[in-house]
This record gives sequence, C-alpha cells and structure tokens, in this order.
Amino acid sequence: MTLAIVTGGNRGIGLAIARKLAENGIDIVIAARNRRLMADAKSCIEKLGVKCWAFSCDVTSKKEIANLVKEVSKLGPVDILVNNAGIGFLKNFNYNKNNEIDSMIDTNFRGLVYFTKAFLPVMLARKKGIIINIASICGKIGYRELAVYCGTKFAVIGFTESLANEVVKARQGDRREKKIPVRRIAVPNEA
Ligand SMILES: NC(=O)c1ccc[n+]([C@@H]2O[C@H](COP(=O)([O-])OP(=O)(O)OC[C@H]3O[C@@H](n4cnc5c(N)ncnc54)[C@H](OP(=O)(O)O)[C@@H]3O)[C@@H](O)[C@H]2O)c1
Repeated sequence: MTLAIVTGGNRGIGLAIARKLAENGIDIVIAARNRRLMADAKSCIEKLGVKCWAFSCDVTSKKEIANLVKEVSKLGPVDILVNNAGIGFLKNFNYNKNNEIDSMIDTNFRGLVYFTKAFLPVMLARKKGIIINIASICGKIGYRELAVYCGTKFAVIGFTESLANEVVKARQGDRREKKIPVRRIAVPNEA
C-alpha cells in the first residue's frame, strides 16, 4: 500500500492532486477543516477504487497536527506528503488586517513547516518518502496586493530548496548532485 496525505485536500488544487494520486492506486488521507467538503471529497476519491480517510485538522495548530499524526500512524507510514493548504487575501498591504497577515503566514508557511516536521522523521528512518510543497509563481515574483502572500510563498520555496539539499546530503553525502536526476530543483512539467 502506498499512502499519501494531502493538506487542503477537500477542494481546489488539493482535491485535484488527491484525485490524481488516487487514479494511480494511492490511498489518500485528506486533512482540512470543512467537514462537509471533506465528506464529499472522501466519497469522490473512494469512487476511484482506493481507500480515503478524511481528518479534520487546522494546519496552524500544532495540537491538531499532533493528533492527526497519531491517527495516521495507525494506518501505516506516509509515503507522500503534499503540503497544499493555503490562503490569500488580495488587497493592498496597507489594508491587510493583522488577523489576515497571521492567517497567511500561519497557514502557508508555518503549517507547511509543522507538517514537514511531523512526517519527515519517519521518512528519513525508512529512507523513503516524497514531500511536495505547493508554492506559487508568487514565490518567484512579488505582485502588488499580494505582499504577505508572496512573502509566504518565497518562504516556502526557500524552505523547500534548503530542506531538499539538506535531506539529499544526509542520504547521499558528496555524491548528492549526481543523484538528483536533473541536478537542480526541477519544475513541474519536467516530472
Ligand atoms: N488557485 C491558484 O491559482 C493558485 C496558484 C498558485 C498556487 N496556489 C496554491 O495552491 C494551494 C491550493 O490553492 P487553491 O486555489 O486550491 O485554494 P482553495 O480552493 O481556496 O483551497 C484551499 C484549501 O486549503 C485548506 N485550508 C485553508 N486553510 C487551512 C487550515 N488552516 N488548515 C487546514 N486546511 C486549510 C482549505 O480547506 P478548509 O477551508 O476546509 O480548511 C482548502 O482545502 C494553496 O497553497 C495556494 O496558495 C493556488
């Protein structure tokens, strides 16, 4: 059995990723907050012939992530983690309320880091696992009315590149460059 967990897997891009993984025979855990959408997503994924579990989890809460890890560990080791949950408020920075700023930073960056921290140790111990972090073109270019959102997505890319180098180095030492298929961080259409 191959098991993937997709944060924000109950709609949008997260659900599309979960469906694509399911079409390839991978069992799915979706983690998000809206229970009604999760129930709909679960039945839609199960129709593809795989198992699907839907767990209510706010990625900004360390406590809820710890509970989720406990529940998911009963299912088996996670092979693929897709850090997809994200939120954005399109407005001039001057009009961003503090709770909107906190919500973007906590969901888009802190949540992704906490989830990675929660699932990476088992992947390292098994020498097996894939972590996919959903960033954005907003992690490469700063757009007006998206200052904080872009900041979080730049952070996601910096974190992802650093961690990739760190993990590959830990596993492969000085030979790491040769072991990365394209010898750099790839872009999606190269997969
Ligand atoms: N749409 C685009 O054009 C686009 C472009 C580039 C990158 N992205 C990125 O792609 C990802 C998905 O975007 P989308 O357009 O599919 O967004 P979306 O339709 O608004 O869905 C966002 C997902 O994140 C979940 N989520 C939000 N806050 C959460 C929290 N605190 N805890 C757990 N789950 C949470 C939501 O579920 P609940 O509300 O039920 O929790 C939902 O499943 C995001 O990271 C986004 O930044 C999107």
